[in-house]
Amino acid sequence: MAGQTVLVTGGTGGIGRATAAGLAAMGARVGITGRDVARTRAAAADIAAASGNPAVDPFSADMSSQAEVRRLAGEVLAAYPQLDVLVNNAGGFWATRHVTADGLEHTFAVNHLAPFLLTGLLLDRLTASAPARIVTVSSGAHATGKINFGDLQGEHRYSGQQAYSQSKLANVLFTYELARRLDGTGVTTTVLHPGVVRTGFSAEDPSPMWKAFLPLIRLFLKTPGKGAATSIYLASSPEVEGVTGRYFAGCKPKASSRSSYDTAAAARLWQVSLDLVGHSAQ
Ligand SMILES: NC(=O)c1ccc[n+]([C@@H]2O[C@H](COP(=O)([O-])OP(=O)(O)OC[C@H]3O[C@@H](n4cnc5c(N)ncnc54)[C@H](OP(=O)(O)O)[C@@H]3O)[C@@H](O)[C@H]2O)c1
Repeated sequence: MAGQTVLVTGGTGGIGRATAAGLAAMGARVGITGRDVARTRAAAADIAAASGNPAVDPFSADMSSQAEVRRLAGEVLAAYPQLDVLVNNAGGFWATRHVTADGLEHTFAVNHLAPFLLTGLLLDRLTASAPARIVTVSSGAHATGKINFGDLQGEHRYSGQQAYSQSKLANVLFTYELARRLDGTGVTTTVLHPGVVRTGFSAEDPSPMWKAFLPLIRLFLKTPGKGAATSIYLASSPEVEGVTGRYFAGCKPKASSRSSYDTAAAARLWQVSLDLVGHSAQ
């Protein structure tokens, strides 16, 4: 990865941090993002020290806010004349309904709208750097998801699990639609399930069930290093050069859920997302 520049969102902890560390150890210049300036700087310094690669840059933004995503994109474009890989990793689970600065439901805003907007804002740079890759971290939970177009923001009825699964299905639909739109540009896009990984996942607002079960299963979960393997593979491996519009788990292509292949739903979600953020990738 020497000579390549990668941006990993949510690189301060968990899977994103291990992804950034792995790619830095392979010689890439790596930008990481996180909400808190001091924590993001400290994570970048730790990754640089552990990987022996000083080219690790901290960017701070609360990606629940579209203004912050726009500021982040501006800073990344100013810092990186070339951008070879974008890893849309930041995300999480929130058991109760929160509303963002833009008046949107938090899970949908962070897990789906933020990568939709950030990808759109960085796309010209990625295209100019082609061959380039966009890798989005979804979840096996997408399979239980349903895009509830009648109540996308969970205003009438909110369930943390449904909001999470919906947002992760949105990640897959987004990737497949983006792949269709990027055909012929030299920019590929893939989406993945990292496995069930021991991270800070859902710690901010856990469901009672997760709180009860986590201590029992914690030891059996993948380490962040193992959970980052598919993200690193898709960001860097020559084996997946030119591969686009595919879902991966365990570094292997897999079928995603039936509803994730619904092209009409993908096109509709794209338009709704565009209406909500006012900027589109292609
Ligand atoms: N862990 C699992 O078992 C699992 C399974 C399937 C999929 N995933 C997916 O893997 C991805 C990473 O999750 P993880 O398990 O590594 O969780 P994590 O340890 O909680 O890490 C989440 C990362 O996202 C960042 N983040 C969260 N909210 C943000 C916001 N509003 N703006 C900017 N950054 C934000 C966090 O940064 P700061 O806190 O520093 O801001 C942190 O770096 C997520 O997309 C998740 O859905 C995880």
